[in-house]
Amino acid sequence: MASQDKILIKGGKVVNDDFSVYADVYIEDGVVKEVGANLLRGRTEGVRVIDAASKLVMPGGIDTHTHFQFPFMGSQSIDDFYRGTKAALAGGTTMIMDFAIPQKGQSLIEAYKTWRGWADPKVCCDYALHVAVTWWSDQVKEEMGVLTQKEGVNSFKVFMAYKGTYMVNDIEMLHTFTRCKEVGAIGMVHAENGDLISEGAKRILALGITGPEGHELCRPEEVEAEATQRSITIANSVSCPLFVVHVMSKSSATIIANARREGKVVFGEPLAAGLATDGTHYWNKDWAHAAHHVMGPPLRPDPSTPDFLMKMLANDDLSLAATDNCTFSTCQKALGKDDFTKIPSGLNGVEDRMSVVWEKGVHSGTMDENRFVAVTSTAAAKIFNLYPRKGRIAKGSDADIIIWDPVATRTISAKTHHQAVNFNVFEGMVCHGVPVFTISRGKVVYEGGVLNVEAGHGKYIGRPPFADYVYKRIYQRDEVCQPVAVKREPYKGEVVKMKT
Ligand code: URP
Ligand code: ZN
Ligand code: ZN
Ligand code: ZN
Repeated sequence: MASQDKILIKGGKVVNDDFSVYADVYIEDGVVKEVGANLLRGRTEGVRVIDAASKLVMPGGIDTHTHFQFPFMGSQSIDDFYRGTKAALAGGTTMIMDFAIPQKGQSLIEAYKTWRGWADPKVCCDYALHVAVTWWSDQVKEEMGVLTQKEGVNSFKVFMAYKGTYMVNDIEMLHTFTRCKEVGAIGMVHAENGDLISEGAKRILALGITGPEGHELCRPEEVEAEATQRSITIANSVSCPLFVVHVMSKSSATIIANARREGKVVFGEPLAAGLATDGTHYWNKDWAHAAHHVMGPPLRPDPSTPDFLMKMLANDDLSLAATDNCTFSTCQKALGKDDFTKIPSGLNGVEDRMSVVWEKGVHSGTMDENRFVAVTSTAAAKIFNLYPRKGRIAKGSDADIIIWDPVATRTISAKTHHQAVNFNVFEGMVCHGVPVFTISRGKVVYEGGVLNVEAGHGKYIGRPPFADYVYKRIYQRDEVCQPVAVKREPYKGEVVKMKT
């Protein structure tokens, strides 16, 4: 009997972010034991041998942005940690990162524990948690330290939108980023100007526009671009590395690219949806179809946006592709049937991200297989300090691996996907690039279209602070680029007398 714990992947092309090589991969007890030519030399008793000839053997995907079973806008996202992570595995993603989001005034540690309580028993793949900072106090400051030191949280997110619930002001954002720098975390930001959105929404509703097109009309590109620029300025003023989530517009992507060229430590995250579809759907005559595309920041009506974002991603102007998977069924979306501001915001992607990026990125000729691995896995592992445990196939790495058929195709559909939501924004899209095997924690969990995994198979993965990949430049600058006072003789002349 071949053991479930010993697997030899034979004859495939092993693709990491920096090079590809034909090699076997031997896995035992959840880790990669060896990568090389002709491993085991036929001594394969008790080992499951998988033939990967003409296939690519790549690190499993890491999706840095999901919201499973998220209580949000009067509802709760329908893909929970079980359905969501199972769907992730079916698509070739072996780790997700979700967000613990406290209410204003609530303890960050309490929110973190709540999310752990939801996720731990249900997850089918490994996961981590970012924590949001939705208010500021000495307690929040203290808890950020505890979470980084004791719970493996090295990323804190602020929202510049969602006025009245999660939105913080510039000073709160400055305090958060200052503290991130002290504890060795990376700041994350939802960059949209929440004041302009709330005023814009009133204006659009007053025009009698209540449908999903109002969602985009009240928050056009510059609302995202202004906030992106502001957050970069604030983070950079305290030398805090910054990760801009869900970059949806050409102007916001350009601001990030320019900041990177100026040497600022900032990373941009486009989404599968933003790379493959656009905001013209908000004008669809079918209300439900339009509502299922509602997310913030919105998909942009400019149809050249997806291609532009993909080129930025290929060139490392943007750093990695995630999903912001936050799904609501049609009857949940219908909470906003008479008022677009009440449509629960979010869409799918966790299952289809890998195929969508392969189709639009690699199959189109915009990026190569190594950049594909970088943007779907390795960059996430580096930025969030999991590398090379995750994001690489090498001796000692976790055995989170996909065997990928680069020429097979599949047609995406809500009728066949594994997610709970009843709509798919990629409906009908034909994608080259199909995962034929997914291996998570050293076990084959998906094979030939069939999932074989149980709730709780995945584990919470803590992340140490001060990731070299983001902090090395910052340490060096702290050492050599501190401003120094000019040495001069004290002024001894007359000083005007102030009138009291
Ligand atoms: O519309 C979105 N993006 N929903 C999820 C919450 C967020 O802002 O990321
Ligand atoms: Zn957001
Ligand atoms: Zn449409
Ligand atoms: Zn999100």
